[in-house]
Amino acid sequence: FTPKTLAGRRVLVTAGPTFEAIDPVRGITNLSSGKMGFAIARAAREAGADVTLVAGPVHVPTPRGVQRVNVQSAQEMLAAVQRNVQAASVFIATAAVADWRPASQSSQKIKKDGSGQTPSLEFVENPDILATVAKSSHALQGDLFCVGFAAESHDLLAHATAKRVRKGVPLLVGNIGPATFGQDDNALLLVDAQGHRELPRASKRVLAQQLMGEIAARLPPLGS
Ligand code: C5P
Repeated sequence: FTPKTLAGRRVLVTAGPTFEAIDPVRGITNLSSGKMGFAIARAAREAGADVTLVAGPVHVPTPRGVQRVNVQSAQEMLAAVQRNVQAASVFIATAAVADWRPASQSSQKIKKDGSGQTPSLEFVENPDILATVAKSSHALQGDLFCVGFAAESHDLLAHATAKRVRKGVPLLVGNIGPATFGQDDNALLLVDAQGHRELPRASKRVLAQQLMGEIAARLPPLGS
C-alpha cells in the first residue's frame, strides 16, 4: 500500500543519459542506466501523480501508467521538457545530461583515410535543463517544485550544497558513492535550505518511494 501523497499533482522526470551524435554511427554519451529516474517515475505514479518521463537512450521498461517521451540529445531533452513542464507542479532532473556536444555533426560517416591522421572534435556547451527550468517564471512564481541530482566523486555534501544554490532549486539529491551506475541500490543525501539528511542504503525502488514522501511534504497545499 502506497499513500497517495501526490494525488492531483503532475510530475515531470528526466532520466538516463543523453547521446550527442558525431556522425550517423558515432557519438558521445554519459554513463547512466536510467534506473534511479525510472524508479522515481514509478514511485511518483504509485503515489498518485500523473507522470511524464523524458528518457534518454536506456534499456529499462516503462513503469505502468507513466507517459514516456524518448529523446537522444540534450537539446531534444530540453525541448521535450519545455513542452511538458508548464502543466507540471514537480520537476525531477535525474538525467545525466552530456555537458558538451560536438560543435557540428557530419551527415555522413567520417571515414578513416589510411593516412593515420585522426579527426579532431570541437565541442559546444549544452543547455543546462534543470537550471533553465528552475529560473522559468513557472518555477519562480512557486508553481513548480524543482529537484536536482548530483553524482560526485568526492566532497559530496559541499558540492551538493553549492550545486543546489547554483541551480536555484529547493532540493538537491546527492548519490552517495561509490558510483552506483547500473546497480539496483543506492544511498542518497538530501540537501535543502534547512540542512541535510541521509537516506541510508536501500534499493532504488525504496529510496524513490522515500524521496516522493520528502517531496510531497515540501509541496504547497493543493489549490493554494
Ligand atoms: O552540473 P551537474 O551536471 O552536476 O548537475 C546535475 C543536475 O543537473 C542533475 O539534476 C541533472 O539532471 C541536471 N542537468 C541538466 N542539464 C544539464 C546538466 C545537468 O538538467 N545540461
